[in-house]
Amino acid sequence: MIQVERFHDTDALYARAVAIIEEVKATGAKTFGLATGGTMEPLYERLCASTIDFSDAVSFNLDEYIGLSETHPESYHYYMQQQLFDQKPFQQSHLPNGFASDLEAEAERYETLLQQYPLDFQLLGIGVNGHIGFNEPGTSFQSTTHVVTLSSSTRAANARFFEDPEEVPTRALTMGIASIMRAKFILLIATGEKKRAVLEKVLMGVSTEEVPATVLANHPRVVILTDLQ
Ligand code: PGA
Repeated sequence: MIQVERFHDTDALYARAVAIIEEVKATGAKTFGLATGGTMEPLYERLCASTIDFSDAVSFNLDEYIGLSETHPESYHYYMQQQLFDQKPFQQSHLPNGFASDLEAEAERYETLLQQYPLDFQLLGIGVNGHIGFNEPGTSFQSTTHVVTLSSSTRAANARFFEDPEEVPTRALTMGIASIMRAKFILLIATGEKKRAVLEKVLMGVSTEEVPATVLANHPRVVILTDLQ
């Protein structure tokens, strides 16, 4: 079931996100699925400034580009280190290795780890095309961690982070939709006009693989925070 909370003020929205994470943590969550993207930057800034302690928790990121090393400034390894882990270390932090020589084996390794450490919580952004993680339109709701070819819409949306748009990787490793749906609690944050159309589709409550995030209607516990009225 999806519960939506709408905010006029993004400060209040992110304060609410921090409060939810604090509460989830205080009630015993140990495994946290994390996300990247512009939407999460203000959240991580506030988590870093908070008193929350993740040193007994384990994190799993949704996805990573293929072909960027961990020290590449646009890799999600680097993003997480800068935005959160340097200031709020977890006991263990996992991301898919987009530099693995055998990518299929890497996807299997990551999925096996996720099954060993079931997610108590999953944080999600949403793409303008409805992707969650890097699960692009058309991805099976049964999918587990896998290699994806990024859609042109996703590469265009993420080009703003790269000096040269041609540098945006063409492929990524991502948790699958089934991997995400196993999380006990999901918090999705959608801000800004460009997310309005896709958010409306998600809130219609009709699931279709053409809009991956519509799968969330089938999850027992989802909170969406938005600044869209
Ligand atoms: P954004 O990305 O936060 O940069 O808009 C969200 C996403 O693609 O999941």
